[in-house]
Amino acid sequence: MEPLRIGLVGWGTVGSALGELVEAGPLPVRIAWLAVRDPGRERPVPLPAGVATHADPGPFDEVDAVVELTGGIEGPLALAERTLDAGLPYVTANKALLATHGGALAERAVATGAALLASASVGGGTPMLEVVDHLAATGRIARLRGLVNATTTFILSAMATGRSYDDAVVAAQEAGYAEADASFDVEGRDAAQKLAILAWVAWGTWRAETAVARRGIVGEAVAPGAVVRLVAEATPDDLRVAPVTLDATDPMATAEGIECVLEITTRDAGTIIVRGPGAGGRVTAGAVYADLAQLARGERPVIGQSPARRAVHA
Ligand code: HSE
Repeated sequence: MEPLRIGLVGWGTVGSALGELVEAGPLPVRIAWLAVRDPGRERPVPLPAGVATHADPGPFDEVDAVVELTGGIEGPLALAERTLDAGLPYVTANKALLATHGGALAERAVATGAALLASASVGGGTPMLEVVDHLAATGRIARLRGLVNATTTFILSAMATGRSYDDAVVAAQEAGYAEADASFDVEGRDAAQKLAILAWVAWGTWRAETAVARRGIVGEAVAPGAVVRLVAEATPDDLRVAPVTLDATDPMATAEGIECVLEITTRDAGTIIVRGPGAGGRVTAGAVYADLAQLARGERPVIGQSPARRAVHA
């Protein structure tokens, strides 16, 4: 079997972890080129030997898919459009991009017959979108409720043991869990973006991050031993993110550190809970790798397409 040739954009925490997986994992995948902003800069994980590395993504005719693991919106948007217009799959962990332009990009992917995959955008290595997508097939998801931002769970659980807010934020940044700009975590924007993506997959209607009513954890007091968490919650008509003091009997109350949890309430199958590590290079790279496995199998999924639309696309 010919290996899947990928163009990889970004060699940060997740990109370099994906590089290791591609090297060591079982899939027939090869990095055909790597694009990083400053190829000459020294990095915690050295750039891979023997891989053509440029400042700009390309050439596109040498790859079967583009994998974008950077951040920001404008550059990735142009790259996604160019990739999809070339009929190539675009794989990303970029929740900000999807919660701003996801609907239009999915339309574009459908129009050009390309694929758009983003398993790593929500839940890190924990398959939240995958489970929601599976349950969405019946159209019977009633409600989503969860802890989808690992950094705030980490900070709030540390504060309950007496650590100061500022100390806990720095620890989350040092551990590589927080966004490059941690205000996205603590102001609830990261959680709002993820909730918008989850709701898109659950109900098939794309909504932007701005459709989510949002309050973050800045200024939140946590009494010793109290379980305060940034809870994301959605029904088909209402999306919200806010800090909530959880009862000890709540299944989410035992999530500590970087654990993320999603409760999916369905009309037919009761409540299903998905739980696991929601941040970190290796776990998140694992979700990207699972997307590559789909492509290697010849599948061409487009995120957020309702089962009916998916059938048409196929
Ligand atoms: N900053 C994010 C979080 C990283 O804490 O959940 C994973 O998306």
